[in-house]
Amino acid sequence: KKTLGELAEARGRYFGSATDNNPQFTNPDYLKILGEEFNHNVAGNALKWYATEPQRGVFDFTLADQIFDFARKHRQSFRGHTLIWHNQLPEWLTTTTWTADELRAVLKNHIFKVVKQYKGRILAWDVVNEAFNEDGTYRQTLFYNTLGPGYIADALRWAHQADPKAKLYLNDYNIEGIGPKSDAYYNLMKQLKKDRVPVHGLGVQGHLALQFGFPTTLRENLQRFADLGFDVAITELDIRMILPADDAKLATQAQWYADVTRACLAVRRCVGITVWDYTDKYSWIPQFFPGEGAAHPWDENLLRKPAYDAIKAVL
Ligand code: XIL
Repeated sequence: KKTLGELAEARGRYFGSATDNNPQFTNPDYLKILGEEFNHNVAGNALKWYATEPQRGVFDFTLADQIFDFARKHRQSFRGHTLIWHNQLPEWLTTTTWTADELRAVLKNHIFKVVKQYKGRILAWDVVNEAFNEDGTYRQTLFYNTLGPGYIADALRWAHQADPKAKLYLNDYNIEGIGPKSDAYYNLMKQLKKDRVPVHGLGVQGHLALQFGFPTTLRENLQRFADLGFDVAITELDIRMILPADDAKLATQAQWYADVTRACLAVRRCVGITVWDYTDKYSWIPQFFPGEGAAHPWDENLLRKPAYDAIKAVL
């Protein structure tokens, strides 16, 4: 009878969903489930740079506030996603050639303005999103290319100054299991800790696909970051499949949702799980991975899938 949020809370954790302003916030049936079932919330797009600083020095929190206010009203903790990412940047930022000093000032101002806006009201920030390539080398982004790898430590320090209570995360995909990319995070976070840079956790996105197999070293990987002294979280869980879906695929998917939940519960410092929206109706998958979908625990009619019961059975 209990909700995912209530069951997670009883385990000292949260179970959350990402959401978006449009079209989700025009659908009362959707909002009812979002408000009832989850005790954690994250704006899927509304806190990205293009949304919060569409013109240089001009900040807009209208969309973020809509989701934040909903979360507060439903007693959901809130994740800030994200301060630095190479995607969904405003045009003014990507079409200018910056000197290192200029870009550093722009970055610092952005972080201070956005983080202070929600000071004391955000559980955790994804300070840097997707900083590494698959082979564990740094991704060549505007920030890396102009500022060098030190941009990560700078960003963490500024975010910490702006909101000392927020937990600060690095966040990425394809770091569920042990491998070159998660090793890169392991080494970086070890070094950041040694340098006393404020960083508190690793966000493992968890965009899984049935055709690629389950990341069997998930628990072990989460545990090694916990053993380093960090929190870990599954931040963007979805489990896609090649369409059409069928009973067998949905059964495997359910098992995977349960396995991810079990892995998190097995690691004391795994603080929670967030699905990257809860329903196939508003999935980002079909657009980004043509021919794939059915990735979420609720279907396109907002009906619970086997995955929902499987998560519940583990929680
Ligand atoms: C996605 C959103 O869900 C889409 O609506 C948007 O068009 C593109 O970005 N990793 C991340 C998220 O960290 O920010 C991405 O979200 C999904 C992949």
